[in-house]
Parts: sequence; structure tokens; C-alpha cells
Amino acid sequence: MQADVDRVLISEEKIHARVRELAAAITRDHTTPNMPGDAEVVIVPILTGAMIFCGDLIRDIPIPMRIGLIAVSSYPGTATTSQGVNVKDYEGLAASLGDLTGRHVVVVDDILDSGHTLATVVPLIRQRGAASVKTCVLLRKDRQSAHDFVADYIGFEIPDEFVVGYGLDFDDYYRNLPDIVTLKREVFAHLTK
Ligand code: IMP
Ligand code: MG
Repeated sequence: MQADVDRVLISEEKIHARVRELAAAITRDHTTPNMPGDAEVVIVPILTGAMIFCGDLIRDIPIPMRIGLIAVSSYPGTATTSQGVNVKDYEGLAASLGDLTGRHVVVVDDILDSGHTLATVVPLIRQRGAASVKTCVLLRKDRQSAHDFVADYIGFEIPDEFVVGYGLDFDDYYRNLPDIVTLKREVFAHLTK
């Protein structure tokens, strides 16, 4: 797995330091006087990519919270460009998201690329009666479409390259790499053989 790595873009240490800063900003914005004292926060990681980021993030947010789940796929299999947003198991959403009426929701995703994922998910959450919806992404790609959707909390700006690690995958692999990395060209090349 490590042999497939081309460059480390963001090290594990840098990720963890930045995650703590994002958690502090979310905590501040969801605590009095910024929020009523009994406001309830629901954190919604977009599966599967946000799983690891969200796991670290929430342990640095010391306020009462619940977790709601949503699964979206836009890079199925070996795709390295968006294939259109597919909200998985739409019918099962109500059960996995829980009751959002009057809740303050923070949607967490791994990366902002075309922006289609968050542009699809945020209205779904609003339709469920959330009192507020904020968005938090670890990475934002340096391309115009990623700037069209305005996220509330952004970890790092990265070049417009395909990255894996810390939850991000290629063909569902490499999520367990601790750093954010690019892959060697051979990894993609062997697919077309
Ligand atoms: P968007 O809907 O195009 O903004 O893409 C967001 C989703 O696409 C993310 O949640 C990722 O799952 C996936 N994605 C986008 N860029 C990358 C990448 O460079 N590596 C791995 N997954 C990516
Ligand atoms: Mg994703």
C-alpha cells in the first residue's frame, strides 16, 4: 500500500493539528452566546469518506451531540472524476438521520470537489426541519466548482489532484493511510490494461 504512494501532501501531524482547530471553531459556534444553551447539535458525516475525519473531529467537540448518518457516492469504483451524486438508500434516510426538527446540524465531508455532494445533501437536511445547517470539509480542491459551494469550515486547500488517505479512497482502498497522499501513475495505469 505504501509502495503505491507518490507524494505526501498533508502529514498525519498537520491533519490532527488542523482538525483540533476546526473542532474548536465548531464548538465556539454551537455554544452560548452563539447558540441557545439547550440547542442540540447533530453531526452528519457523509459516508464513507468522512468516517475517519469525523471520528477525530467529534472527540474534540465537548458538547452534547448525536450522530446522523448519510451515505452518498459520486466516485463509484475506480472513477477519479465525479460520476454524478447518488444518495444511497434514500428510503432508509429517515432512520439513519434521526429526527432533525429544530436541530442544529453540522454536515461533515472529506473533500469539496465539484460541490455536488453538499449541494444535494444540505437541502435534504433542511427539508427535514433542521434549525441550522453548517458544512465542514477537511479538504477543498483548487478549482472553480469547489468554490461555488461555500462551506463553513474548511481544513486545507489542495491542488486539483486525486488524493487518498485519512478516509479518502481509490476503488475503496487506501482509506486507512494516515496521511493525505497522491498515488503513483502506475496505480491508475494498470486499470486500463
Ligand atoms: P463533489 O460532490 O464532487 O464535491 O465530491 C465530493 C466527494 O467525491 C467526496 O466526498 C469524495 O468522496 C469524492 N472525491 C472527490 N475528490 C476526491 C479525491 O481526490 N479522492 C477521493 N475521493 C474524492
Ligand atoms: Mg465521499
